[in-house]
Amino acid sequence: MNRLLSSRLENLTPYVPGEQPQDQQYLKLNTNESPFPPSAEALRWAQENVRPLNLYSEPVSRELRAAMAQALRVSPDQVMMTNGSDEALNLAMVALCDDARPAAFPDITYGFYAVIARANGVPYEEVPLKDDFTVDVSALSAPGRTVFLANPNAPTGIPLPLSEVRKLLNADPDRAVVVDEAYVDFGGESAVSLLKEYDNLLVIGTFSKSRSLAGGRLGYAVGNPALIKALDTLRDSTNPYNINSYTQALGLAILKDEARVRENCRRIVQNREETAERLRALGFAVLPSRTNFVFAAHPTIDGGELYRRLKARGVLVRHFDKERIARYNRITIGTKEQMDRFFTILTELWEE
Ligand SMILES: Cc1ncc(COP(=O)(O)O)c(C=O)c1O
Repeated sequence: MNRLLSSRLENLTPYVPGEQPQDQQYLKLNTNESPFPPSAEALRWAQENVRPLNLYSEPVSRELRAAMAQALRVSPDQVMMTNGSDEALNLAMVALCDDARPAAFPDITYGFYAVIARANGVPYEEVPLKDDFTVDVSALSAPGRTVFLANPNAPTGIPLPLSEVRKLLNADPDRAVVVDEAYVDFGGESAVSLLKEYDNLLVIGTFSKSRSLAGGRLGYAVGNPALIKALDTLRDSTNPYNINSYTQALGLAILKDEARVRENCRRIVQNREETAERLRALGFAVLPSRTNFVFAAHPTIDGGELYRRLKARGVLVRHFDKERIARYNRITIGTKEQMDRFFTILTELWEE
């Protein structure tokens, strides 16, 4: 290792985001972005209302926090805004875990949880999903560990009913359960409604999926005021101006555009159901998704091989080289036209 570097870097394996190759135009179905950009009205509103850029951004995103709180029907002191939900997840990992309180999450889930645990020196346990890829709630419930749960899960797309989330919360009221709801707007059940009953619940959300703002980097955490205050202290101690002024304005504009967000979700859900049906007709096994992607495996074609053949034809999907899921590919749901093109290329592969 380089003699100048801290030993903390020794075992650091970074998160590998979905590839963004620039060598040609790809049909990009690999990073679960929205296929719909923010509306022209939202972009104009943000342009007209952005705080002058010679000034620092509003440190606590006051106006955006209030609007987000209103959208979630909670009070402003229950919400904080973050630079993507990844920042909220990292703050939660630091604030809620240590040697005496390790993290626990499923073995197949958002890969960033293990990365931030390692980066922060937090011990963690990966609890295997059941054979049908649903969360093993009783195993994950073991007390004393801070739970990180993506609901619906990624990359499986499978949702966990709120009654099961309650079991996790009840199993140990003295540890936190962090519910990552990145995909909840595509048909999941939000745990925000449980915040009135549980002070050990922290819900994390993002503007990157249903709200069309992956490039703006905006996320949020919702929980009881004491927990939010602690996360804010940590944020103020590391990155006080965490959200740039333009993203704050865009976030406000998108919250005003809720009807369009809902309509976009409806279209994606419809495309998802059609995509799942068409994949099944080609012999794929498709897990039941409540997200903006499907996770599908073919009985005879290897997942990695299919990924490579699609890429050679200009289509990017996401393949995870991990034992239990190597047969699968995660396919982001795009517009109807994008999905039609996907199936044209996929069926051409069959005829090769
Ligand atoms: C489950 C899950 N949580 C969080 C994120 C991160 O989203 P953000 O863009 O808000 O950092 C992702 C991104 O793909 C995700 O899949």
